[in-house]
Amino acid sequence: MTGTRSVVTGGSSGIGLATARALARAGSRVDVVGRDPERLRAAAADTGGEALQVDLTAAAQRAGLAERLAARPPDILVHNAGRGLVADATAADTGQGLTALLETNVRAPVELTTAVLPAMLARGRGHLVFVGSIAGVLGVAHESAYAASKAALMTYAAGLAAEVRSRGVVVTVVVPGVVDTPFFERRGAPYDRVFPRPVPPALVAERLVEAVLHDRATVVVPRWLHLPIALRALAPGLYLRLATRFG
Ligand SMILES: NC(=O)c1ccc[n+]([C@@H]2O[C@H](COP(=O)([O-])OP(=O)(O)OC[C@H]3O[C@@H](n4cnc5c(N)ncnc54)[C@H](OP(=O)(O)O)[C@@H]3O)[C@@H](O)[C@H]2O)c1
Repeated sequence: MTGTRSVVTGGSSGIGLATARALARAGSRVDVVGRDPERLRAAAADTGGEALQVDLTAAAQRAGLAERLAARPPDILVHNAGRGLVADATAADTGQGLTALLETNVRAPVELTTAVLPAMLARGRGHLVFVGSIAGVLGVAHESAYAASKAALMTYAAGLAAEVRSRGVVVTVVVPGVVDTPFFERRGAPYDRVFPRPVPPALVAERLVEAVLHDRATVVVPRWLHLPIALRALAPGLYLRLATRFG
């Protein structure tokens, strides 16, 4: 990790901030991408990298970041920026919420990967990390569009991994459960369940960095979430009955 350069999108808050700090502690020079200039500056001061103020829902700003990444490809690119969307399946969407969701959670990581990949392939190394969500694996009531955006991201990463692994570029998908960050306040629906208890963002960051160091394809945090994943795969009917009953 020492001497590497990393870029973390959404590095100004929550999981991204914890990840940027963990990568910096491991010896990487980390640039952070986000919107809030104050929090970005504070994050960059922690990581010794640059604060890149980019709104990933703005096409021109995405293109600017893509150009920069293509010209100066990092060793590690963490696609972490994301937003939630809580809405009943019957709720009419004016289009804006859904568009911002898909642009931030899907379009930006795909476009930025497309920009950086040729240089990574040319030098035969590079690491792309995608922060997905357990919602994208299991599906969650009242969050179906958010879950679908994360499923799209993780499926994209799976295809990408198969395409580039033999050419030296490693892809890691991180699948967090509930994490204690401002994510819930920001989506306008605080997390109010007793179970599962949120895990600290530092734990996700620690497992993410470990996964990069060991070239792991997938990491699920916390580990017990492998249980519902396996149950849904093996007994989808039973899983649906339990999910309907317990949420
Ligand atoms: N918290 C959870 O329970 C949980 C669970 C599973 C997966 N995740 C995923 O983990 C990732 C990080 O979420 P978090 O929990 O750390 O939430 P968070 O604290 O709200 O952080 C979200 C980050 O994404 C950035 N971001 C959002 N929209 C952006 C945009 N349009 N342009 C640029 N940056 C943007 C934010 O930047 P600014 O603050 O500068 O706007 C912030 O740094 C997300 O992809 C989320 O879906 C979270």
